[in-house]
Amino acid sequence: MDKKEKFIITGLAGQRKLTGKLRVKGAKNAVLKVLSSAPLFLNDIKLNNVPEIGDVDCLEKIISRCGIEFIRNKRGQRTVKVGKRVGSEIDVDLAQKMRASIVLTGPLLARTGRVVFPFPGGCVIGKRPIDFFLDGFSRLGAKIKKRGEVFDLIAPPNGLRGASLFLKYPSVTNTETLMMAAVLADGQTIIKNCALEPETISLGEFLIDSGARISGLGTATIVINGSKKLLRSKKIYQTPPDRIEAGSFLILAALVGKDIKIESCRSEELTALLEILQEAGLKIDIEKNSLRVSGQQSKFKAINIKTHEYPGFPTDLQAPLAVFLTQCHGQSMIFETIFENRLGYLETLHRMEAEVKILDAHRAMIFGPNKLKAQEVESPDLRAGLAYVLAGIIAKGKTIVHNVHYIDRGYEDIDNRLKEIGVKIERIEDL
Ligand code: EPU
Repeated sequence: MDKKEKFIITGLAGQRKLTGKLRVKGAKNAVLKVLSSAPLFLNDIKLNNVPEIGDVDCLEKIISRCGIEFIRNKRGQRTVKVGKRVGSEIDVDLAQKMRASIVLTGPLLARTGRVVFPFPGGCVIGKRPIDFFLDGFSRLGAKIKKRGEVFDLIAPPNGLRGASLFLKYPSVTNTETLMMAAVLADGQTIIKNCALEPETISLGEFLIDSGARISGLGTATIVINGSKKLLRSKKIYQTPPDRIEAGSFLILAALVGKDIKIESCRSEELTALLEILQEAGLKIDIEKNSLRVSGQQSKFKAINIKTHEYPGFPTDLQAPLAVFLTQCHGQSMIFETIFENRLGYLETLHRMEAEVKILDAHRAMIFGPNKLKAQEVESPDLRAGLAYVLAGIIAKGKTIVHNVHYIDRGYEDIDNRLKEIGVKIERIEDL
């Protein structure tokens, strides 16, 4: 059971007051995949810059039930100890808490010739089926059975076989899962219409560094020539900075930053957001690894956004950006193209006195600017939860955000880090 906690935020009523530095932590959606790759290895893996977040804890629990051990040398560091025996079963209860657990199915099937897993759970952002995964595994030669609530996949006696795969959609986790399954398969696998996300590239580079034969990372076609189990050199995986956290901090700085510097980020991965914020009128000092918002800012203009696969505007920044749009002058439009249920949080922003019109499951209009008013709200998932924190910071009055465990799934120690730049935020037990 997740610990019940809430945030109490005393809002700034729109005043530009925050000053200081925010250092971006390691990318959740990169590290989860590298941890999931453990079954492909014969020896230990070492990682640095691991964000200490709920999703990492949960995934480590899931993987350790397959016989792989995690040693936390110190905060942000891990040694993953992969022994000779690796189990094939993914814990049903834990997997139902976490969509990303699906990624582990590829490495387990490749390593053990079998994987048993439930339909994965996770955020409430739409249907999120697993048909692309099952289809890919079946083309790699696996037999698929459904037994009660679990899927039971069995590879051919000599292991998975290379195949030609076309992804109906450039799904991030699907690209990563099938790429990892193919690493130990017999022969060549060609995956077309792959995800181009930086986290997928980071995983691929890590695998190549460990002996996998993969080419085409960062392009729509990835080719994998199957090899033996991987052997990691002493090189430590350095988790890249989280571009969604960096983007969310930038949005906060745009809203109420007097002088905020965001450090340890990769600005080139944030182009879509930077373009939009600059189009709205935000002045940003952009360096390769830092972003700064300071000085006088003019009024922001309304803008339209459409979420898209990388390098387009990320769906994971859609809710935080909506908070920014409430402060822009005129009518903005949000078009969520990736998930079918990722606008629900707008009802809550509306309760905070944002002027919002939800047109359908994918589109909404925001009319601004409107002064937001504090409310008692419940995080539905991690990204919308963080958007409520941002809304609470700019609003007038005390906002209470329940279900903080969702926010903790993706953002390390967020309250203490925000306190350092002047945010008045308290974490207390939610009785
Ligand atoms: N889809 C299918 N069938 C499948 C798989 C996906 O129809 O078998 C559909 C989904 O329903 C969705 C679309 O494909 O409509 C895109 O989903 P995708 O598979 O790309 O998303 P994902 O891989 O499950 C990852 C991130 C998400 C991020 C999306 C889009 C991880 C662990 N998760 O999800 O991150 O929003 O890509 O960039 O990498 C988050 O961090 O909060 C988060 C939700």
